[in-house]
Amino acid sequence: MKIIRTKDYDDMSRKAANIIAAQVIMKPDCVLGLATGSTPIGTYARLVKQYQEGDLDFSQVTSVNLDEYKGLTKDNDQSYYYFMNDHLFSKVNIDTKHTFLPDGTEPDSEKACREYDQIIAGVGGVDLQLLGLGHNGHIGFNEPGTAFVARTNCVDLTESTIQANKRFFASIEDVPRQAYTMGIGTIMLAKKVLVVVSGADKAAIVKKAFFGAITPEVPASVLQLHRDVTVVADEAALSEVE
Ligand code: F6R
Repeated sequence: MKIIRTKDYDDMSRKAANIIAAQVIMKPDCVLGLATGSTPIGTYARLVKQYQEGDLDFSQVTSVNLDEYKGLTKDNDQSYYYFMNDHLFSKVNIDTKHTFLPDGTEPDSEKACREYDQIIAGVGGVDLQLLGLGHNGHIGFNEPGTAFVARTNCVDLTESTIQANKRFFASIEDVPRQAYTMGIGTIMLAKKVLVVVSGADKAAIVKKAFFGAITPEVPASVLQLHRDVTVVADEAALSEVE
Protein backbone atom coordinates (compact mmCIF):
# COMPACT_ATOMS: atom_id res chain seq x y z
CA MET A 1 0.00 0.00 0.00
CA LYS A 2 1.40 3.34 -1.04
CA ILE A 3 0.39 6.42 0.96
CA ILE A 4 0.75 9.79 -0.76
CA ARG A 5 0.56 12.68 1.70
CA THR A 6 -0.77 15.93 0.32
CA LYS A 7 -0.92 19.44 1.76
CA ASP A 8 -4.67 19.86 1.58
CA TYR A 9 -7.85 18.88 -0.28
CA ASP A 10 -6.89 20.71 -3.45
CA ASP A 11 -3.47 19.05 -3.56
CA MET A 12 -5.14 15.66 -2.94
CA SER A 13 -7.56 16.30 -5.80
CA ARG A 14 -4.78 17.25 -8.23
CA LYS A 15 -2.65 14.22 -7.39
CA ALA A 16 -5.58 11.81 -7.57
CA ALA A 17 -6.66 13.28 -10.90
CA ASN A 18 -3.12 12.91 -12.22
CA ILE A 19 -3.12 9.21 -11.29
CA ILE A 20 -6.44 8.67 -13.10
CA ALA A 21 -5.19 10.74 -16.05
CA ALA A 22 -2.07 8.58 -16.27
CA GLN A 23 -4.29 5.48 -16.41
CA VAL A 24 -6.39 6.96 -19.22
CA ILE A 25 -3.29 8.05 -21.17
CA MET A 26 -1.54 4.69 -20.78
CA LYS A 27 -4.69 2.69 -21.61
CA PRO A 28 -7.23 4.86 -23.48
CA ASP A 29 -9.85 2.07 -23.44
CA CYS A 30 -9.51 1.39 -19.73
CA VAL A 31 -12.32 0.62 -17.30
CA LEU A 32 -12.55 3.11 -14.46
CA GLY A 33 -14.41 2.21 -11.28
CA LEU A 34 -15.89 5.45 -9.95
CA ALA A 35 -17.20 6.73 -6.63
CA THR A 36 -19.57 9.48 -5.54
CA GLY A 37 -19.54 11.39 -2.24
CA SER A 38 -17.93 14.72 -1.45
CA THR A 39 -14.27 13.65 -1.50
CA PRO A 40 -13.85 12.94 -5.26
CA ILE A 41 -15.64 16.11 -6.40
CA GLY A 42 -12.35 18.04 -6.66
CA THR A 43 -10.73 15.10 -8.46
CA TYR A 44 -13.49 15.10 -11.07
CA ALA A 45 -13.19 18.88 -11.46
CA ARG A 46 -9.47 18.46 -12.18
CA LEU A 47 -10.13 15.72 -14.73
CA VAL A 48 -12.67 17.98 -16.45
CA LYS A 49 -10.05 20.75 -16.58
CA GLN A 50 -7.44 18.42 -18.08
CA TYR A 51 -10.01 17.35 -20.68
CA GLN A 52 -10.88 20.97 -21.51
CA GLU A 53 -7.20 21.76 -21.92
CA GLY A 54 -6.89 18.95 -24.44
CA ASP A 55 -4.77 16.70 -22.23
CA LEU A 56 -7.31 13.91 -21.76
CA ASP A 57 -9.55 11.91 -24.05
CA PHE A 58 -12.36 9.84 -22.50
CA SER A 59 -13.87 8.68 -25.78
CA GLN A 60 -12.79 5.06 -25.32
CA VAL A 61 -13.14 4.91 -21.53
CA THR A 62 -15.74 2.72 -19.82
CA SER A 63 -16.88 3.42 -16.26
CA VAL A 64 -18.64 1.36 -13.62
CA ASN A 65 -19.77 3.07 -10.44
CA LEU A 66 -19.68 1.59 -6.98
CA ASP A 67 -23.25 2.08 -5.95
CA GLU A 68 -26.74 3.53 -6.43
CA TYR A 69 -29.78 4.08 -4.24
CA LYS A 70 -32.57 1.59 -4.80
CA GLY A 71 -35.74 3.33 -5.92
CA LEU A 72 -34.26 6.53 -7.32
CA THR A 73 -34.57 7.38 -11.00
CA LYS A 74 -31.66 8.80 -12.99
CA ASP A 75 -33.22 12.26 -13.05
CA ASN A 76 -33.62 12.41 -9.27
CA ASP A 77 -30.99 14.92 -8.15
CA GLN A 78 -30.04 12.65 -5.23
CA SER A 79 -29.32 9.65 -7.45
CA TYR A 80 -25.70 8.73 -7.99
CA TYR A 81 -26.33 8.73 -11.73
CA TYR A 82 -27.32 12.39 -11.48
CA PHE A 83 -24.17 13.11 -9.44
CA MET A 84 -21.89 11.45 -11.98
CA ASN A 85 -23.54 13.19 -14.86
CA ASP A 86 -23.31 16.52 -13.09
CA HIS A 87 -19.65 16.25 -12.05
CA LEU A 88 -18.10 14.27 -14.87
CA PHE A 89 -20.06 12.56 -17.64
CA SER A 90 -21.73 15.68 -19.07
CA LYS A 91 -18.45 17.61 -18.95
CA VAL A 92 -16.06 15.25 -20.78
CA ASN A 93 -16.27 13.25 -24.00
CA ILE A 94 -17.07 9.91 -22.38
CA ASP A 95 -19.68 7.92 -24.32
CA THR A 96 -22.61 7.67 -21.86
CA LYS A 97 -23.45 4.27 -23.37
CA HIS A 98 -20.19 3.15 -21.73
CA THR A 99 -21.04 4.49 -18.25
CA PHE A 100 -22.67 2.05 -15.85
CA LEU A 101 -24.22 2.21 -12.40
CA PRO A 102 -26.45 -0.34 -10.67
CA ASP A 103 -30.04 0.16 -11.86
CA GLY A 104 -31.76 1.91 -8.95
CA THR A 105 -35.12 1.62 -10.70
CA GLU A 106 -35.03 -2.20 -10.73
CA PRO A 107 -37.24 -3.32 -7.82
CA ASP A 108 -36.04 -6.93 -7.98
CA SER A 109 -32.82 -6.73 -5.95
CA GLU A 110 -31.54 -10.11 -7.02
CA LYS A 111 -31.99 -9.21 -10.68
CA ALA A 112 -30.40 -5.76 -10.27
CA CYS A 113 -27.34 -7.22 -8.54
CA ARG A 114 -26.96 -10.14 -10.96
CA GLU A 115 -27.23 -7.83 -13.97
CA TYR A 116 -24.65 -5.42 -12.55
CA ASP A 117 -22.19 -8.25 -11.96
CA GLN A 118 -22.75 -9.31 -15.58
CA ILE A 119 -22.04 -5.76 -16.76
CA ILE A 120 -18.79 -5.63 -14.77
CA ALA A 121 -17.74 -9.03 -16.10
CA GLY A 122 -18.77 -7.98 -19.62
CA VAL A 123 -16.49 -4.95 -19.64
CA GLY A 124 -13.61 -7.17 -18.53
CA GLY A 125 -13.25 -5.99 -14.93
CA VAL A 126 -11.92 -2.75 -13.50
CA ASP A 127 -8.48 -1.34 -14.29
CA LEU A 128 -8.50 1.45 -11.70
CA GLN A 129 -11.05 1.68 -8.90
CA LEU A 130 -11.50 5.05 -7.19
CA LEU A 131 -12.79 4.89 -3.60
CA GLY A 132 -13.77 7.30 -0.86
CA LEU A 133 -13.65 6.22 2.78
CA GLY A 134 -16.69 6.36 5.07
CA HIS A 135 -16.25 7.56 8.67
CA ASN A 136 -17.03 4.02 9.82
CA GLY A 137 -14.64 2.47 7.28
CA HIS A 138 -17.24 1.61 4.67
CA ILE A 139 -16.30 1.39 1.00
CA GLY A 140 -19.15 1.61 -1.44
CA PHE A 141 -22.14 0.82 0.78
CA ASN A 142 -20.34 -2.15 2.32
CA GLU A 143 -20.99 -1.36 5.95
CA PRO A 144 -19.10 -2.60 9.04
CA GLY A 145 -20.03 -5.77 10.81
CA THR A 146 -21.25 -7.81 7.87
CA ALA A 147 -19.05 -10.50 6.40
CA PHE A 148 -17.03 -9.33 3.41
CA VAL A 149 -19.68 -9.76 0.67
CA ALA A 150 -18.10 -10.69 -2.62
CA ARG A 151 -20.43 -9.41 -5.31
CA THR A 152 -23.02 -6.71 -5.92
CA ASN A 153 -25.56 -6.77 -3.15
CA CYS A 154 -28.57 -4.90 -1.81
CA VAL A 155 -27.89 -3.15 1.48
CA ASP A 156 -30.36 -1.91 4.09
CA LEU A 157 -29.22 1.58 5.01
CA THR A 158 -28.57 2.05 8.71
CA GLU A 159 -30.77 4.42 10.70
CA SER A 160 -27.79 6.79 11.10
CA THR A 161 -27.25 6.91 7.31
CA ILE A 162 -30.97 7.59 6.77
CA GLN A 163 -30.86 10.37 9.36
CA ALA A 164 -27.66 11.81 7.84
CA ASN A 165 -29.18 11.79 4.34
CA LYS A 166 -32.53 13.30 5.22
CA ARG A 167 -31.23 16.87 4.78
CA PHE A 168 -31.04 16.23 1.02
CA PHE A 169 -34.70 15.17 0.72
CA ALA A 170 -38.06 16.90 1.14
CA SER A 171 -38.98 14.54 3.99
CA ILE A 172 -37.53 11.53 5.76
CA GLU A 173 -40.05 9.28 3.95
CA ASP A 174 -38.31 10.19 0.68
CA VAL A 175 -34.90 8.96 1.86
CA PRO A 176 -34.11 5.62 0.20
CA ARG A 177 -34.00 2.69 2.63
CA GLN A 178 -31.81 0.49 0.47
CA ALA A 179 -28.93 0.73 -1.99
CA TYR A 180 -27.18 -1.53 -4.45
CA THR A 181 -23.42 -1.72 -3.99
CA MET A 182 -20.52 -3.42 -5.68
CA GLY A 183 -19.17 -6.09 -3.34
CA ILE A 184 -15.80 -6.20 -1.62
CA GLY A 185 -14.76 -9.13 -3.84
CA THR A 186 -15.26 -7.10 -7.01
CA ILE A 187 -13.43 -4.12 -5.52
CA MET A 188 -10.54 -6.43 -4.61
CA LEU A 189 -10.40 -7.73 -8.19
CA ALA A 190 -9.67 -4.26 -9.59
CA LYS A 191 -6.15 -4.16 -10.97
CA LYS A 192 -5.41 -0.92 -9.12
CA VAL A 193 -7.21 0.85 -6.30
CA LEU A 194 -7.00 4.58 -5.58
CA VAL A 195 -8.43 5.84 -2.28
CA VAL A 196 -8.96 9.56 -1.69
CA VAL A 197 -9.32 10.86 1.86
CA SER A 198 -9.43 14.37 3.25
CA GLY A 199 -10.00 16.08 6.58
CA ALA A 200 -9.29 15.64 10.28
CA ASP A 201 -12.67 13.96 10.75
CA LYS A 202 -11.27 10.98 8.78
CA ALA A 203 -7.97 10.75 10.72
CA ALA A 204 -9.14 8.09 13.17
CA ILE A 205 -10.61 5.84 10.48
CA VAL A 206 -7.54 6.25 8.25
CA LYS A 207 -5.41 4.92 11.12
CA LYS A 208 -7.77 1.99 11.78
CA ALA A 209 -8.36 1.07 8.14
CA PHE A 210 -4.82 1.24 6.79
CA PHE A 211 -2.67 0.72 9.89
CA GLY A 212 -4.93 -1.46 12.07
CA ALA A 213 -6.28 -5.00 12.06
CA ILE A 214 -7.93 -6.43 8.94
CA THR A 215 -11.53 -7.03 9.97
CA PRO A 216 -15.09 -6.80 8.60
CA GLU A 217 -15.68 -4.28 11.40
CA VAL A 218 -13.61 -1.91 9.23
CA PRO A 219 -14.44 -2.88 5.63
CA ALA A 220 -11.68 -0.73 4.07
CA SER A 221 -9.07 -2.65 6.09
CA VAL A 222 -9.38 -5.46 3.52
CA LEU A 223 -7.53 -3.18 1.08
CA GLN A 224 -4.34 -3.93 3.02
CA LEU A 225 -4.47 -7.31 1.24
CA HIS A 226 -4.67 -5.77 -2.25
CA ARG A 227 -1.42 -5.73 -4.20
CA ASP A 228 -1.77 -2.27 -5.79
CA VAL A 229 -3.44 0.31 -3.57
CA THR A 230 -2.57 3.99 -3.50
CA VAL A 231 -4.07 6.17 -0.79
CA VAL A 232 -3.94 9.89 -1.54
CA ALA A 233 -4.69 11.64 1.73
CA ASP A 234 -4.17 15.14 3.01
CA GLU A 235 -2.18 16.01 6.13
CA ALA A 236 -5.32 16.39 8.20
CA ALA A 237 -6.50 12.88 7.33
CA LEU A 238 -3.05 11.50 8.13
CA SER A 239 -2.69 13.45 11.37
CA GLU A 240 -3.05 10.34 13.58
CA VAL A 241 -0.34 8.34 11.78
CA GLU A 242 3.39 8.96 11.64
C1 F6R B 1 -19.66 6.69 -2.77
C2 F6R B 1 -19.46 5.66 -1.76
C3 F6R B 1 -19.14 5.95 -0.32
C4 F6R B 1 -18.29 7.18 -0.09
C5 F6R B 1 -18.02 7.38 1.40
C6 F6R B 1 -17.24 8.65 1.68
O1 F6R B 1 -19.97 6.13 -4.02
O2 F6R B 1 -19.58 4.55 -2.11
O3 F6R B 1 -18.51 4.82 0.21
O4 F6R B 1 -17.09 7.07 -0.79
O5 F6R B 1 -19.23 7.44 2.11
O6 F6R B 1 -18.02 9.76 1.38
P1 F6R B 1 -17.46 11.23 1.40
O7 F6R B 1 -16.47 11.35 0.30
O8 F6R B 1 -18.67 12.10 1.16
O9 F6R B 1 -16.85 11.44 2.75
